Amino acid sequence: MPTLDFDERAARHIQRVYATADVVAQRERVLELLDPRPDDRVLDVGSGPGYLLAEIADRVGPGGAVHGLDPAPAMQAIAATLIADRAVVRLDEGDACALPYDDASFDAAVSTQVYEYVPDVPAALAELRRVVRPGGRVVVLDTDWESVVWHAADPDRHRRVMAVWDGHLVHPYLPRTLPGMLRRAGFRVTGRHLVPIFNPSYDPDTYSALTIDTVAAYVTGRDGLTAADVEAWADDLRSRGEDYLFTLNRYCFVAC
Ligand SMILES: C[S@@+](CC[C@H](N)C(=O)[O-])C[C@H]1O[C@@H](n2cnc3c(N)ncnc32)[C@H](O)[C@@H]1O
Repeated sequence: MPTLDFDERAARHIQRVYATADVVAQRERVLELLDPRPDDRVLDVGSGPGYLLAEIADRVGPGGAVHGLDPAPAMQAIAATLIADRAVVRLDEGDACALPYDDASFDAAVSTQVYEYVPDVPAALAELRRVVRPGGRVVVLDTDWESVVWHAADPDRHRRVMAVWDGHLVHPYLPRTLPGMLRRAGFRVTGRHLVPIFNPSYDPDTYSALTIDTVAAYVTGRDGLTAADVEAWADDLRSRGEDYLFTLNRYCFVAC
């Protein structure tokens, strides 16, 4: 099954989803764990729309350097606008498995919701180990899509939708194996943190409400799910009001 395509439409939607209070809070937690210091050189692998790049730039100041690496031109275009007035940020096109940097180039690195899309995670972590100086801090956050609780009227239809949605990325349950992979890549894991998203009622400006659109666009026409099936699934969730409930767990690992 083809994974999510980070084209212009997807990039614009991600930009909107990542501006919700849910994802703003997630970034605050990631930034707190990364703890970039003035003059640090920091890499963001799979920097996407660039929100985190801007926040890291403000922490490292004019003496630091921030590199945002991403293979998707549509994502880089959005990030370019966001970081336009932050001279310390550089955007580089490239892949997590072949980082275009010298050994030990960075004091710290971060990667949020990226390795779950990368087929060869051990190769990507070996690259991360190579470009971060010994003792430098690394923060990696990914989602376990089996952690989702979403109150739907038709459990069978909901299970079918979510099973197809699992195909939108290569590793839907990556956090379970990430600490071991980090260790085998030569890192010492120093922190494990739960970063949940909790939407206890329906609000169109939340992570989960906007994710209904993302899921619907991806699953329609796949594995026998018709437009009518998916529309009924989405309409049910959107009409739940106070009977709505969504939770999802993200896991954040700190290593050096
Ligand atoms: C879900 S977005 C997350 C963006 C950003 N890290 C954030 O949390 O705001 C996933 C990003 O990973 C990027 N990506 C996908 N495969 C990649 C790879 N092999 N190497 C580097 N980045 C990749 C995509 O282009 C996209 O920008």
